[in-house]
Amino acid sequence: MTEKTPRLRPELDSVPTYKPGRPAAPGGPVAYKLSSNENPYPPLPGVLESALAAAGSFNRYPDMACAGLMAELSDHFKVPLTHLATGTGSVGVAQQLVQSTAGPGDEVIYAWRSFEAYPIITRVAGATPVEVPLTPGEVHDLDAMLAAITERTRLIFVCNPNNPTGTVVHRAELESFLDRVPSGVLVVLDEAYREFIRDERVPDGIELYRDRPNVCVLRTFSKAYGLAGLRVGFAVAHEPVAAALRKTAVPFGVSQIAQDAAVASLRSEAALLERVEALVGERTRVVEGLLGQGWTVPETQANFVWLRLGERTMDFAAACERAGVVVRPFPGEGVRVTIGEVKANDLFLRAAEDFRKEL
Ligand SMILES: Cc1ncc(COP(=O)(O)O)c(C=O)c1O
Repeated sequence: MTEKTPRLRPELDSVPTYKPGRPAAPGGPVAYKLSSNENPYPPLPGVLESALAAAGSFNRYPDMACAGLMAELSDHFKVPLTHLATGTGSVGVAQQLVQSTAGPGDEVIYAWRSFEAYPIITRVAGATPVEVPLTPGEVHDLDAMLAAITERTRLIFVCNPNNPTGTVVHRAELESFLDRVPSGVLVVLDEAYREFIRDERVPDGIELYRDRPNVCVLRTFSKAYGLAGLRVGFAVAHEPVAAALRKTAVPFGVSQIAQDAAVASLRSEAALLERVEALVGERTRVVEGLLGQGWTVPETQANFVWLRLGERTMDFAAACERAGVVVRPFPGEGVRVTIGEVKANDLFLRAAEDFRKEL
């Protein structure tokens, strides 16, 4: 029988669409985009120069092995080359991790609400998402996540700090969790916001992975390093996992511009981390401002804050937009607001204060 349309995999019917943070409307009243957890600073001059130099040969394919970047990462994080894999943003690497471990009939556990790509990449692989609600304090419920493990579990994401709540899990609880996860289940510590953490009780995943063959750490150049538009992230994991990532990578996925800019960023780390420090200072100011206005704000260790507004979410987002900032609403749940430049944060705080007065 001839069909009218190509046969697509039925699993795709249940794949939610990724909703990117909206940009500020061109020419509109809105001036600042606080909806995608981006770094508000423009590229550092040295990093921009490296990217521009690489752009001069974009008629050529990039180095598929990302050799220069891998060597720099290996040196920087003191990990063997064979424990590294790069990809098109850490979301690309996360997708490769799911493809490497889970297929139809397998389960992937993650907290909910967490990074909205997790359900998408799980379903695209044909695997089944198992979503474990955050605690009332908006933190990963690691005991409940352990209890959710079955014979079919293949991968568990722990997003630390969690997107969109900014909350963290501490060393003792995370280690105790890792000790109890069966060795055949891969635990992915998604540390996209690692550089913004100031709470010393939060462990560095790269220390935790060293003697744990079932732990993989995900990092990105998109947030603190400010390369979101270039799409480069990486994983640190023991050899079988890192090797699987190299097999599942899209060939030539990371452009030479991204590779060279990432190397230049690692070499300019001191200057970049100064900017991160300024953002952390702004985070403290925004959180204190919100608390002073009477809001409940979960403690955030990332470059964003979370307000659980429930039914008032969309009204709040609209009020922010009228005041000149685009935030990221999750309808019926809450609003995530990126820490931006001082002026943007001021506009947001004013909008939050005005909204609060009208409650
Ligand atoms: C928790 C988390 N992981 C991964 C990513 C992916 O970032 P990228 O693909 O730009 O590295 C994001 C981006 O928003 C995130 O919030």
